Amino acid sequence: MLHIYTLLLTVGFLGHYVSGFRNPIISGVNADPTAIRVGDDYFLVTSSFEYFPGLPIYHSTDLVDWKIIGHGLTIKNAIYDRQLLASGGIFAPTLRHYNGTFYLITNYADSFNPSDQRPFLITTNDIFSGNWSMPTYFDQTGIDPDLFFDDDGCVYLSTALPEFAPTGGNSTIWQSQVDVTSGKSLIQPVMIYRSDLPLKIRWAEGPHVYKINGSYYLSVAEGGTEVLHRQTIHRGPSPSGPWEASPLGPLLFNGRDTSAPVQQTGHADLIVRPDGKWYSVFLAVRPQNPNNINGSWILGRETYLSPVTWSEDGWPLANNGSEITFEMADPDIAATSIENTTWHDTFSSSVLDPSWEFRGTPYGDWYRINDSSLVLRGTPRALDALDGMALVIRRQDSLWHDFSADLEFQPTLESHEAGVVAWVNDEYHNTISVVLCKDQPSSVCLKTATIGQGIEIDGNVTTTYHPLGTEHVSDEGVAVRIYISATPETYKFGYLPLGSENVTWVTAFPSSWMAARSGGRTSWHGARMGLYATGNGFPMLKEAVFKNVEAVSNYK
Ligand SMILES: *[C@@H]1O[C@H](CO)[C@@H](O)[C@H](O)[C@H]1NC(C)=O
Ligand SMILES: *[C@@H]1O[C@H](CO)[C@@H](O)[C@H](O)[C@H]1NC(C)=O
Ligand SMILES: *[C@@H]1O[C@H](CO)[C@@H](O)[C@H](O)[C@H]1NC(C)=O
Ligand SMILES: *[C@@H]1O[C@H](CO)[C@@H](O)[C@H](O)[C@H]1NC(C)=O
Ligand SMILES: *[C@@H]1O[C@H](CO)[C@@H](O)[C@H](O)[C@H]1NC(C)=O
Ligand SMILES: *[C@@H]1O[C@H](CO)[C@@H](O)[C@H](O)[C@H]1NC(C)=O
Ligand SMILES: *[C@@H]1O[C@H](CO)[C@@H](O)[C@H](O)[C@H]1NC(C)=O
Ligand SMILES: *[C@@H]1O[C@H](CO)[C@@H](O)[C@H](O)[C@H]1NC(C)=O
Ligand SMILES: *[C@@H]1O[C@H](CO)[C@@H](O)[C@H](O)[C@H]1NC(C)=O
Ligand SMILES: *[C@@H]1O[C@H](CO)[C@@H](O)[C@H](O)[C@H]1NC(C)=O
Repeated sequence: MLHIYTLLLTVGFLGHYVSGFRNPIISGVNADPTAIRVGDDYFLVTSSFEYFPGLPIYHSTDLVDWKIIGHGLTIKNAIYDRQLLASGGIFAPTLRHYNGTFYLITNYADSFNPSDQRPFLITTNDIFSGNWSMPTYFDQTGIDPDLFFDDDGCVYLSTALPEFAPTGGNSTIWQSQVDVTSGKSLIQPVMIYRSDLPLKIRWAEGPHVYKINGSYYLSVAEGGTEVLHRQTIHRGPSPSGPWEASPLGPLLFNGRDTSAPVQQTGHADLIVRPDGKWYSVFLAVRPQNPNNINGSWILGRETYLSPVTWSEDGWPLANNGSEITFEMADPDIAATSIENTTWHDTFSSSVLDPSWEFRGTPYGDWYRINDSSLVLRGTPRALDALDGMALVIRRQDSLWHDFSADLEFQPTLESHEAGVVAWVNDEYHNTISVVLCKDQPSSVCLKTATIGQGIEIDGNVTTTYHPLGTEHVSDEGVAVRIYISATPETYKFGYLPLGSENVTWVTAFPSSWMAARSGGRTSWHGARMGLYATGNGFPMLKEAVFKNVEAVSNYK
């Protein structure tokens, strides 16, 4: 099943070499990484919030080069993401391997009912097969669940109880022993950790319990997942503590210097190579404009890597306590080449490439692959709906990024619309689409719209119409290639005039409009780009046909 996707990946031959490795190791929104090694293989899973399929699973043999091999949550587990508010859904997971079985635990956060956290577990014996089990739900609440398998066979479930949880409150880690086959708690949960950071920033989340060299360790993400985000490390005589904090300070904390280009480091997991060298994976952001904590992080929270060293008395530090950077010196990792890459999708497989995502579990018969094209039949829902819209998107994984697609479409009603989108979330997105021209419905236009574009014009829609030349129109409708071009400062929308080799750009907007934090709201998102069609409130009998999607990821 792994190799049925017929994609072309062409790689520029003038890449630049980094001695060591390049962060982020998984670019584009991929937060809350958890990773394990099984033999010579590494597996890593990230959170997915309201996007589906959920829990992307990545594989690597060198810790640096990661390929998506599938998802933990698909239609097979019967997890239905419905009507999730932005940043609801699937939170930080923990992946573990015990006695031949992969255990992947996470929680489902219903943003309409924030006290209902629903931790659950899925398992598989063959992680490459994608055959994950149905969920087993735990009766302990909390977010960011961790499973720890002790040598005696006892299994410990640790969860973070945020302020809005029913009891406990104020950033504490709670733990019980559980039966992983039923999800039942075997003991009443006990509080094993309370952050002693100042109350305002006292978020203790993303716990992981380890047994290393005979001692138990508790690792916790603290300080809130923003400016002061860090990972702390504690040691104790049992899986439940009592805990002694590392005298060396946080395992990981770039927030000591808010002018550093990599910020918000935390939500870390630890792995050890077969040669005994330790590493940590964690999330961080790279703000733009300015390139420090005051900038906006367009690509969202991405996955980073750092070597971890242990002091003589058994305390770990990421990057030996130094700042995490884009280029990490590491004599034990082969020099990495940084190359511009082009990803093509010609829809020549019968299933969608695993890099495409939906907002919410899709329902209704609105997309199909036919004859090297992706055919979308718009639903009545526009892109501000919480699910059920005809939309497929992929992560923008580089700051210089070009996305384009051929579109064939014949709008016959003013409500008909199909095009490409630069997407942050349901409240913030920017579109270029083929529609009938406003007040001139006998002609066809490219419409550009920016929706929820920031704090001053929050919620306002700026729409412009650009007439399309008749050469693009035939009896079968319009045929046009549409482009998005992103740089760290600006996004542009354009199309390729027939017979021309150069794109005509019709509008541009500042990249801050693609920021995950926008309009005064926090959202745990990053930029995505994709294809959509909508009947804007009505059924859409005309289908939109997309072909030859190209995503160019450029690096400097
Ligand atoms: C490990 O798996 C085997 C085979 O499934 C089972 O018989 C055994 O009880 C398991 N051991 C533990 C400690 O769970
Ligand atoms: C998937 O796993 C289930 C057990 O969880 C097993 O019964 C089934 O045969 C597996 N299917 C495939 C295709 O491997
Ligand atoms: C949590 O902290 C707030 C102050 O920020 C306090 O009012 C509240 O009582 C605390 N809740 C618990 C359960 O300790
Ligand atoms: C971020 O902005 C604040 C308020 O404008 C300013 O005081 C601070 O120096 C800025 N930080 C950096 C690293 O530029
Ligand atoms: C574990 O102990 C061994 C032997 O003392 C030592 O060589 C090794 O570095 C220790 N590992 C860690 C992670 O502390
Ligand atoms: C790690 O940091 C310590 C203290 O700053 C320093 O003495 C030591 O040389 C560093 N180790 C390496 C391998 O850089
Ligand atoms: C699939 O594509 C072919 C070739 O473009 C077309 O003839 C056929 O009608 C399409 N089938 C469907 C179900 O759209
Ligand atoms: C949105 O636009 C309307 C009409 O131009 C204006 O009255 C309103 O103040 C704007 N809202 C914001 C938040 O800027
Ligand atoms: C396309 O752009 C290039 C570079 O600006 C220019 O040299 C060329 O003449 C243009 N081609 C056409 C057909 O306009
Ligand atoms: C890669 O892309 C960057 C940014 O667009 C560009 O500056 C650089 O020249 C490209 N490198 C190659 C080898 O094409």
